[in-house]
Amino acid sequence: MQKAIGVMDSGVGGLTAVKQIQQMLPNENIIYFGDSLRMPYGNRTYQEVVEYANAIIEFLEKKEVKAIVIACNTVSSQITKLQAKVPLFGIVEYGCQEAAEVAKGEKTIGLIATVATVKSGIYEKTMKKIAPDKKIIANDSSRLPKVINSQMENAILLYMLIKESIDPIYKEDVQTLILGCSHFPIIEKEIKTLYPSLRLIDPAVRQIKELKKYLEQNHMQNDKQGAKYTHLYTTADMFEYVASIKRLELKLNKLEEVKLFLND
Ligand code: DGL
Repeated sequence: MQKAIGVMDSGVGGLTAVKQIQQMLPNENIIYFGDSLRMPYGNRTYQEVVEYANAIIEFLEKKEVKAIVIACNTVSSQITKLQAKVPLFGIVEYGCQEAAEVAKGEKTIGLIATVATVKSGIYEKTMKKIAPDKKIIANDSSRLPKVINSQMENAILLYMLIKESIDPIYKEDVQTLILGCSHFPIIEKEIKTLYPSLRLIDPAVRQIKELKKYLEQNHMQNDKQGAKYTHLYTTADMFEYVASIKRLELKLNKLEEVKLFLND
């Protein structure tokens, strides 16, 4: 059996990475882990985020994945503290690379992300290395990921929280906005409706392009035609995933609730 690609997130957000994998790497099997029970990670301490992420990495490694995509920006902000035997693909670097490339003449780049991601300053630090002429203007949102995770059908709440997140930075004349939380590309349609002129960056697109390159260069691609499975594990109610799976038009064979005890 060919090894799968592991994808981890705090909840449904990483399904945006799954979508990219299914499109760009159609032969790859996927094992997804969403820690809905403990989300939002963005409101937790970095120590908790690292502890939970390491437990998920261990879970995925036991399933013998060949690489792990860290779809969660909050976890990626702490990537240097994670322990893994397989290659880890963080997301922040790719979001910055993509934004720097597409927003060539622009001096400021907008960012919406969780409180923990914004507080870590990881996007600013990374952008400084990639494109020192660009300034990140960030705003955090502590409630929007949770609403996307479990109440996406509540349109009034959704639109209100999108405005609350983007309005403060939109006023500063930002033309390009990094969706610095994996949950946000799921509601790209609603963001576009409110801000039609904004160029939105989903960092998962570049992240999976780079993963594809890596697999090719290291001869790690699945050579069998067509993926056999996408398995999804979650620590909370699996029904939370249904709306996002439908919206992203994902192919899925298994949805399972698991108890992940940190000291297993
Ligand atoms: N998935 C997380 C991220 O990309 C956001 C959701 C959370 O706070 O758990 O940062």
